[in-house]
Amino acid sequence: MVLPCKLVAIVAFLALLFDSSSCLPSIASKLTDPAPTTWPLQFHSILFMNNSGKLQKVELWYDWPNGRNFNIIQNQLGKLLYDLEWTNGTSFYYTLDSNRECRVMHFPVGILGPNWLQGANYLGQRYMDGFLCNVWEKVDFIWYCEDVVSKRPVYWAFFNGMTAHVMTFEVGKVLEDPNWQAPVYCFKEADDEEEQNPSLESVASSTTGSHGRFLRGAMALSLD
Ligand SMILES: *[C@@H]1O[C@H](CO)[C@@H](O)[C@H](O)[C@H]1NC(C)=O
Ligand SMILES: *[C@@H]1O[C@H](CO)[C@@H](O)[C@H](O)[C@H]1NC(C)=O
Repeated sequence: MVLPCKLVAIVAFLALLFDSSSCLPSIASKLTDPAPTTWPLQFHSILFMNNSGKLQKVELWYDWPNGRNFNIIQNQLGKLLYDLEWTNGTSFYYTLDSNRECRVMHFPVGILGPNWLQGANYLGQRYMDGFLCNVWEKVDFIWYCEDVVSKRPVYWAFFNGMTAHVMTFEVGKVLEDPNWQAPVYCFKEADDEEEQNPSLESVASSTTGSHGRFLRGAMALSLD
């Protein structure tokens, strides 16, 4: 398999971060390893993201019981993009400015379940952003850091180089229903306007489970 250079660089970097003993956990330590905290069913979070040098502030509204997830993405000195995801596979990407842009896409995966980190490999404790974290990874996917004391997420890094710093994490906070309505221009001529982007679609359909679900949102961050 040919790995993209960026991925190789990140894997090499991660290998440097962890000493060999934490890279090779023994069977015995597996039994006592902490498990990542299940995500709350509903929360509001503000994230600062670095997408290969492109900075973004993301408001994340996670709402599992209602089968929906919202990323409101402010690009630095740039576009404010709304990424509204339904668990039936439909995502709306739109702006609310005078350009009235909207893309509708369908994915074969729903939104990320609260236990999506289950089965991640424990890598030990590290300081990240000044917080002592338990760290897990899902190979070729994500590196995830959770505050040891509060159990809140602090930071995560996708293996494509995108990183997220968690600025706020408000458990139980829900965005009211009217805000989950995509604008009317998303529904006009829906058949013509539905996005046929082969590269995005192959990303979406070749990845199943939590990878595909996470990529569904991560993808929006790279839209312009
Ligand atoms: C964002 O990430 C790039 C590497 O992709 C790094 O060079 C840059 O310093 C980072 N910017 C900030 C503000 O962290
Ligand atoms: C999924 O649900 C949303 C919100 O109810 C709706 O707008 C969309 O058309 C649905 N998609 C499918 C494929 O049924």
